[in-house]
Amino acid sequence: MLKQLLFGAMFTLVVFGGVQAQEKQKTTAIEKKVDELLSKMTLDEKIGQLNQYTSRWEMTGPAPAGSSEQEMLDQIKSGMVGSMLNVTGADATLKAQKLAVENTRLGIPMIFGYDVVHGYKTMFPIPLATASSWDASAAELSAHIAAVETAASGIHWTFAPMVDISRDARWGRVMEGAGEDPYLGSVMSAAQVRGFQGSDLILENTIAACAKHFAAYGFAEAGRDYNTVDISEYTLQNVVLPPFHAAVDAGVATLMNSFNVIGGVPSTSNPHLLRDMLKGAWGFDGFVVSDWNSIGELHNHGVAADLKEAAYLAIKAGSDMDMEGYAYIDHLKELVEEGRIDEALIDDATRRVLRIKYELGLFDDPYKYSKLDEEGLVLSEEHLAAAREVAKKSIVLLKNENHLLPLKKAGQKIAVIGDLADDKDSPLGSWRAQAVTGSAVSLLEGITNVITDNSAVVFERGPVFVSNTPAFQQHLQYNETDPSGIEAAVELAKKMDVVVMALGENCFQTGEGRSQTDISLKGYQQELLEAVYAVNKNVVVVLMNGRPLVIDWMAENVPAIVEAWQLGSEAGNAIADVLFGDYNPAGKLPMSFPRSVGQCPIYYNHFSTGRADDTGTVFWSHYTDESNEPLFPFGYGLSYTSFDYSDLQLSANEISANQKLNVRVTVKNTGDVDGEEVVQLYVHDLYGSIARPVKELKGYKKIFLKAGESQTVTFELDSDDLKFFTAWKVWEAEPGDFNLWVGTNSQTGLKGAFKLK
Ligand code: NOJ
Repeated sequence: MLKQLLFGAMFTLVVFGGVQAQEKQKTTAIEKKVDELLSKMTLDEKIGQLNQYTSRWEMTGPAPAGSSEQEMLDQIKSGMVGSMLNVTGADATLKAQKLAVENTRLGIPMIFGYDVVHGYKTMFPIPLATASSWDASAAELSAHIAAVETAASGIHWTFAPMVDISRDARWGRVMEGAGEDPYLGSVMSAAQVRGFQGSDLILENTIAACAKHFAAYGFAEAGRDYNTVDISEYTLQNVVLPPFHAAVDAGVATLMNSFNVIGGVPSTSNPHLLRDMLKGAWGFDGFVVSDWNSIGELHNHGVAADLKEAAYLAIKAGSDMDMEGYAYIDHLKELVEEGRIDEALIDDATRRVLRIKYELGLFDDPYKYSKLDEEGLVLSEEHLAAAREVAKKSIVLLKNENHLLPLKKAGQKIAVIGDLADDKDSPLGSWRAQAVTGSAVSLLEGITNVITDNSAVVFERGPVFVSNTPAFQQHLQYNETDPSGIEAAVELAKKMDVVVMALGENCFQTGEGRSQTDISLKGYQQELLEAVYAVNKNVVVVLMNGRPLVIDWMAENVPAIVEAWQLGSEAGNAIADVLFGDYNPAGKLPMSFPRSVGQCPIYYNHFSTGRADDTGTVFWSHYTDESNEPLFPFGYGLSYTSFDYSDLQLSANEISANQKLNVRVTVKNTGDVDGEEVVQLYVHDLYGSIARPVKELKGYKKIFLKAGESQTVTFELDSDDLKFFTAWKVWEAEPGDFNLWVGTNSQTGLKGAFKLK
């Protein structure tokens, strides 16, 4: 046995050593080519590589001023455009690429980028939903399939994953990230990078990823998109940056700046972030693209008097490519000629862009992705089946009293109520790339697909939810004037055994620019719910939403609540899998649900405060009109079975810096059905050089247990896991006492303690 193990280890070493040597050779070869090309380039040609335009046909930001389509085409032909975004489809990318390759002196191919956030045509769950699966392989698979479809449409690069930590459900972009926790956020970040980029960017089923928005964009004050961020270095290092670092460690090709300032310094012109940390300490050798005109917006922030100054600040700080800002193309040359910036800065940025183009194989064949056959690769049965799998795993069961769920496929009269229930579009989410409008399986379809007696299911819409036709660039208007439909829904509910109500948000309520001060149910949804519940208590609410919502009345009254987010192309089928028990839900919340919007930002890994305990007087840290606790905490989610935790054992009471602590717990499935459980490990560092969070997730394991089965789950902790950015501005584990919990969510668990010497 030992011999086998040794042989295995040696084999791994030899193979791994071989892979490393190959990697090194490849890197050296690419570096040589980059240097050779760079030495032939004029300053204008180099600056061209740093310039990115959107196609004028499909825009994801405010219209660019003063540049016609013809001007843009001419610029491409003269080598002034290194990259484009929003050019989609093999034909369009081929045409655009030809302009660059066939007309310019050096024939340098452009790199095409696009926001492929949770699928290209086959839509996967929104990232916040995928994070609810706590399943890295699910996140990796959805990114991989998105990459296959994106590449087949001629695109080389996605502006994803968004790895911004967010604690405030008012922010519309929480749907795009993995929620509030840096550990889970890092797992999901690395998984998506692996999924998009695969083992090698040269392969035809991989695309370059872009971790965004660097940094702290999710901490916008009051949850208002693009707003000021003012956080400490502590929060930046310990909470915001880990998922970016994880992306870099996973080999992410690019990063994107964020729109915000941190402590008055815009991220786009922040040398501490870009040069010291990212390109310095972390050794990142890909490139940084600005966000849409974020270089131009340095002027609006009040740190650059004009666009030239903005270009100066951004290139100095380390922003390599200018997205739709016209700052670099219009001003970098002048800045070099005036001697204000060294050409070496331009060389460095250009080198980074060329490096990724080489890694993608664009110099070997600039048209390689445009030649793939979209037909066979996009929206295949296999992709849709994967989307359904990931969607099932992303569902969180929030409440299920008296085993109302799962429902029966026969012998139960089911009312399906709510505008969202037959909505075939909203489940596709707001960052939907090239999803076909109205192509999702609706909840109603999902239900009718599985029940054996169709006459047992009757649908009533209730009041129409939104009163305009939502579109990506448009604000929603909710129906707040026409309650008709409530009565018919109530009449139906009276006659049926159980009511499935689809409530929540239209997909265009969340996403970029979609912040809200009120995150309760909009339109007539609350009235509809209360009216229906008044006549039939067997209500199952299926929530479809892109952010945690305030649903206190619902949580108090309604017996069953299923959090189904926006689950993509196969949404209805996946929800039906859960509603009828073909799949036992196992998702866990990646973000706390507030009881009231006034609690936002709300998150489990907060500090203690000096007055954390209720002293019986008014002078402690609390609200006088609301509890401090969330409605549903981070890590929370139920199953159709129950799990019992027992026998927590720690291998030692004390460990030294180079020792490992083994944490063991027994988990038993005590119910009648098989199920999965996410076993979560949290730690509290009792005293530190600065205050430490009351709990921090340090590990989790998703396990499957047959009914009645038990398993011992083991975690290994060492001082690396206990490191944090300390008062002395270093990453260190500080000796002292720690509490530890292993449990089913962030609020409960078996408790242990240990000391780090
Ligand atoms: C602005 C968004 O903030 C960013 O996430 C996106 O990638 C770009 N627009 C391009 O669409």
